[in-house]
Amino acid sequence: MPNNEFGDFQTPLGLATQCLKVLGLPENARVFEPTCGLGAFLEAAAEVSPASERFGVEINAEYAAGASQWGKVTTANVFQFALPDAATWETDGPLFVVGNPPWVTAAELKRMDSDNVPPKENIKKVKGLDALLGSSNFDVCEYIILKALREFSSQPFVLGMLCKTQVARNVIDYAASIALPIANAAVYRIDAMRWFDAAVDACWFTIEVNPAVEPNYTVAMYEDVFKPEAPSTGRFGVVDSLLVANVDKYIAVREADGKSPYVWRSGMKHDASSVFELVATPQPTTKAGQQLDLEPEYVFPLLKCTDVFRGRHREHTKWVIVPQMEFGAATNHLETTAPRLWSYLESNAAAIDGRKSSIYRNRPRFSVFGHGAYTFAPYKIAISGLHKEPIFRLIAPLNNQPVVLDDTCYLLPFEDPTEAVVVASILNSPQCIALIESLVFWDSKRPITKKLLSRIDINKLPVDAETIIANAADLAEEYGLSFDSAKASSLIGRLGEQAESELALF
Ligand SMILES: C[S@@+](CC[C@H](N)C(=O)[O-])C[C@H]1O[C@@H](n2cnc3c(N)ncnc32)[C@H](O)[C@@H]1O
Repeated sequence: MPNNEFGDFQTPLGLATQCLKVLGLPENARVFEPTCGLGAFLEAAAEVSPASERFGVEINAEYAAGASQWGKVTTANVFQFALPDAATWETDGPLFVVGNPPWVTAAELKRMDSDNVPPKENIKKVKGLDALLGSSNFDVCEYIILKALREFSSQPFVLGMLCKTQVARNVIDYAASIALPIANAAVYRIDAMRWFDAAVDACWFTIEVNPAVEPNYTVAMYEDVFKPEAPSTGRFGVVDSLLVANVDKYIAVREADGKSPYVWRSGMKHDASSVFELVATPQPTTKAGQQLDLEPEYVFPLLKCTDVFRGRHREHTKWVIVPQMEFGAATNHLETTAPRLWSYLESNAAAIDGRKSSIYRNRPRFSVFGHGAYTFAPYKIAISGLHKEPIFRLIAPLNNQPVVLDDTCYLLPFEDPTEAVVVASILNSPQCIALIESLVFWDSKRPITKKLLSRIDINKLPVDAETIIANAADLAEEYGLSFDSAKASSLIGRLGEQAESELALF
């Protein structure tokens, strides 16, 4: 991973050469490489198209001197001038702006106390850039690609840059928002571990800019820059002003990209698992093996994301202590109403009182959070927030008690089993999974988010009602739940409506 303020990782010649072959660099190309380092792309261009005219810019004078054997190279800081001003061309062939800008984020630069960043006033001048680059994840590479796109965009040219795949997404999103004249784009994955020892999803990002044609903000995806002829695995890009992971899948189900009729919740958090989480032996037992005799109304079966994801959601293996029924509720009464629980919590007070999160500050002692009436609904639909596959599970009571999910899960609460199984079968329908897969970038750290789930309008998914009802009936039977098929039919297409008033409760 580039680890200094200049993102100084020189591209191996073999990779640079292959990247330029993918671009189909013509004989008469004009090649411009900002942040050219030792000039890997200039050298590759000289190899692929010896008659090309080549310019480079590099901040490090020694590197610039080394690169100058492959073209005309200026020692300068790319943040301080407009890129087209750096070259005075002698030929007039098609223009290619290529290279490997520094992969370093604003947060990393801040840690290094570096000022190798674009001047603030330059950012402010450009619509929308301020907000985009304000995030600590803003990457210098992203800024340089956008700078090249903006500054050269009055003429047709081809851009080819090595970057993190996330940068390619941000660039296309931003390009669409300011209507840059992008005619065509593609990403070809590279093995960043092999070439740069970087554990990150990265690509060769190519963009054809042409002010004369209708813009297109979708990007064809290819698995391997060394196999450019292999069929594309799909396209990501901007549809209806939204960035989506798979354009074709999305178009088929886009109607359901809206607002969930139900409120998605995160599970409960307590930040002291050694105290709050107990083993079900089946009695509540500490991890150290001490069997506890706590007031049962404060101890609930617990499931975590791995239980949900792996299908272990019908096994009762863990308990969790819930000392209040909602966040912020008083706990001091426990001393008299639940003295055994109180004494257990007090004997573990050091671990609980020492919790770092500010959420517990100035709250009743032994508070947990991320819970409320919805936590105690008998039925739930849950999904793991940490796994990279969308699997929704119906959660039914265990030990005749509502199950509590921890904060690695997202959930919907239900009182009615028929409604719960109908919603579960819609969420697991191929149409819903297609919508999720069209929206999710699976290489993100936490691809399934509350925001994503809240976008799924299950009433608008183009599902087959009969299939949903049949699947819902099977699910009810599997769990031994009562199922009202007339009610199920009436719910499809208007789920969540009658719950509007009850939602206040959840
Ligand atoms: C990832 S390396 C790539 C070098 C070269 N493009 C290649 O592909 O081998 C990034 C280069 O950007 C240069 N650089 C970093 N900040 C710069 C700036 N503000 N202006 C010009 N060059 C810069 C670094 O010195 C380094 O050589």
